[in-house]
Amino acid sequence: MDDLLVQLRAGLPPEALITDPDVMASYARDMAGFCEAGAPAAVVLPRTVEQVQHVMRTATALRVPVVPQGARTGLSGAANATDGCVVLSLVRMDRILEISAVDRVAVVEPGVINAVLSRAVAEKGLYYPPDPSSWETCTIGGNIGTAAGGLCCVKYGVTAEYVLGLDVVLADGRLLRTGRRTAKGVAGYDLTRLFVGSEGTLGIVVGAVLGLKPAPPRQLVLAAEFPSAAAACDAVCEIMARGHAPSLLELMDRTTLRAVNKLAHMGLPETTEALLLAAFDTPDPAADLAAVGELCTAAGAVSVVPADDAAESELLLQARRMSLTALEAVKSATMIDDVCVPRSKLGAMLEGTAVIAEKYDLVVGVCAHAGDGNTHPVVCFDHLDEDESRRARESFDEIMALGLELGGTITGEHGVGVLKREWLARELGPVGLELQRAVKVAFDPLGLLNPGKVF
Ligand code: LAC
Ligand code: ZN
Repeated sequence: MDDLLVQLRAGLPPEALITDPDVMASYARDMAGFCEAGAPAAVVLPRTVEQVQHVMRTATALRVPVVPQGARTGLSGAANATDGCVVLSLVRMDRILEISAVDRVAVVEPGVINAVLSRAVAEKGLYYPPDPSSWETCTIGGNIGTAAGGLCCVKYGVTAEYVLGLDVVLADGRLLRTGRRTAKGVAGYDLTRLFVGSEGTLGIVVGAVLGLKPAPPRQLVLAAEFPSAAAACDAVCEIMARGHAPSLLELMDRTTLRAVNKLAHMGLPETTEALLLAAFDTPDPAADLAAVGELCTAAGAVSVVPADDAAESELLLQARRMSLTALEAVKSATMIDDVCVPRSKLGAMLEGTAVIAEKYDLVVGVCAHAGDGNTHPVVCFDHLDEDESRRARESFDEIMALGLELGGTITGEHGVGVLKREWLARELGPVGLELQRAVKVAFDPLGLLNPGKVF
């Protein structure tokens, strides 16, 4: 242990190394509940690539595990410390190095906050679409680690589609450059994509080239109230089948609407079973919203209300973004699922989730990126009640089983981390799992990078 601190100190400025146990404890976990977290031996906050390389060389020499972290807004425990590890927090490497309107790329360090980047590129008439609900606090490095999604994915896709190239410090301290900053490129295996969503198990991302889009017109939002989740899902399918391209298609169920009202007095309807938010950032969003409004009415919506202006639209999005925080306040604890199914199976997924909630006699609030078929059933329970906790765990698992049965995945955007490790094997099958493990060994033969996560 002393060796570790001595050797770390040799290549780091004093302010980059934290050893105070109380301060270190605040770096022990991300936002996932019910995931094991250990006590780090040191927390390092580097500012340069060389400092990250020094940490990795030291860790390899001494065989010490390293847990990379961004803002710790993750929801699967992937950033949780393990006992005796070095927590490597990239939040101080937060510079935007370049924004090029011609190449339509941004070159960034991993600690840049998502919203900071979004605003910086917007000033140049550009757009970085991936927008997780935590966009005001989460980092681009964390987004890359988890392959984060967000509200706009239904039209613009997820983080993976915007990462063109990466600088990665490998377990032994070597610097790997993957990908490109060109519009195209097929030279060799796509290691860039491999790193996106690898949850810190293959290397430390220290730089990224991100693709940008031209800024679209400001989006306008419509809110449609449905008497059942099934009717809302019919509307979603119809909207997509007819070829519309909404910039957002989100759903909140009654439990979620009530929870958001309780938290923030938003005045959302509380008697409706499902509220669908649709938005368009097309040249004539009002016309597109009118067409989609008609489809909602045909699917059974009892109320279809376009937002008056951009401010009202933004308020509706805020309500959606705070859904998880609001549901976390319903009871003392939550378990958050992230099942993504083919859009055509969304109705079956929500119906099945309601059946599971009923079977286990639990409150399960659902918010969903409905247009992506990506649901977040949030199991709310009292963690001091042993029986309720057991039922929560079982229902959480049953929801994932249902997702797989419907041809979906156990995680659309939150990742595997610690929370869904056992489930990964079920989704990948033995051949897939074996090859993924072989990839892990190729990059990290000593098993030092974020051990105990994903597999
Ligand atoms: C959301 C987070 C929970 O969709 O992914 O709000
Ligand atoms: Zn989400």
